[in-house]
Amino acid sequence: MIAGGEGLGYGGRMSFGLTGHFPDYRPRRLRRTPALRRMMRETSLAAEQLVLPLFARSGRKARHPVAAMPGVFQLSPDEAAREAEKALALGVPAVLLFGIPDGKDEKASGAFARNGIVQQTVRLLKKELPQLTVMTDVCLCEYMSHGHCGIVRMQRGGEVDNDPTLPLLARTALSHAEAGADVVAPSDMMDGRVAAIRHELDRHGFSGTPILSYAAKFASAYYGPFREAAESAPKFGDRRSYQLDGANAREALREVAMDIQEGADLVMVKPALAYLDVLYRVKAEFGYPTGAYAVSGEYSMMKAAAARGWIDERAATLETLLAMRRAGADFIITYSAAEAARWLKEGS
Ligand code: PBG
Ligand code: ZN
Repeated sequence: MIAGGEGLGYGGRMSFGLTGHFPDYRPRRLRRTPALRRMMRETSLAAEQLVLPLFARSGRKARHPVAAMPGVFQLSPDEAAREAEKALALGVPAVLLFGIPDGKDEKASGAFARNGIVQQTVRLLKKELPQLTVMTDVCLCEYMSHGHCGIVRMQRGGEVDNDPTLPLLARTALSHAEAGADVVAPSDMMDGRVAAIRHELDRHGFSGTPILSYAAKFASAYYGPFREAAESAPKFGDRRSYQLDGANAREALREVAMDIQEGADLVMVKPALAYLDVLYRVKAEFGYPTGAYAVSGEYSMMKAAAARGWIDERAATLETLLAMRRAGADFIITYSAAEAARWLKEGS
């Protein structure tokens, strides 16, 4: 009996599936040895749950460092294949591909060009590493001269026009599927894009290609480093007229419901760390395969603190990824995928 008669104050008030009086509940008993702690773990983190984002650009043997993201590079297709191969060897099964085109225009032609940078890289990756799962980010911002995720109407004050954007997104997704993409992942946040993409894929014989929807994507300051990596910062304005407002969790659930209705096979919450409550609710509400995107800013913050010796990078990274799993993520898209896989392999 612990001093106080009522144990540590839990007696008779346990609400976690326990009823009755537990005056001697002593949680520390199961934390005494490493073996017991391992056995009692409720949540697991494994390399097979991780997805590595890659940035592809034209060239050969080219690796351009991204200043704000130490360890991340813009890679020529051959180098992207090397990077994916290393990740695969560490147990990371999948990559998420972004493209940096040679040129941009007002119609995002580079996004759906048969021989565009993503299409080329997908073909090479699938040829050299057939067992690799290749996901492609479907958006237009990297390919638009103005850097927005859809068609812009200057006569309407630079508004991003939803419906005329849908066919371009659908065409882009189809071109990725034709190149061999295993999963297409629209990140634009236009209304109706999942249905438009599903319809286009089905119409062309790709009914087996799954759609991973960036369903709950918030307008976020944490995308800053990515925009340097992908050279996709909007030239004017911001993305607040299409991405979710950070105050809105219920609206995020409606976005997810809508994408599921339109045919999304997998859904995602992004960013991850600042939106773990949304992640938890999405998984609890829908039970769908759910991803978390640990975005560029999350990565850069960790790297910056680690570089100064202010934080234990390995421990903090694994703790954060585990938190995303605990909140409900089935898979996690993270720039740390390969490193984390290596750390997991080395053991604790
Ligand atoms: C573009 C896109 C963005 C990210 C993924 N796809 C940036 C944005 O919306 O501006 C962010 C990824 C990251 O920050 O790691 N639609
Ligand atoms: Zn975009």
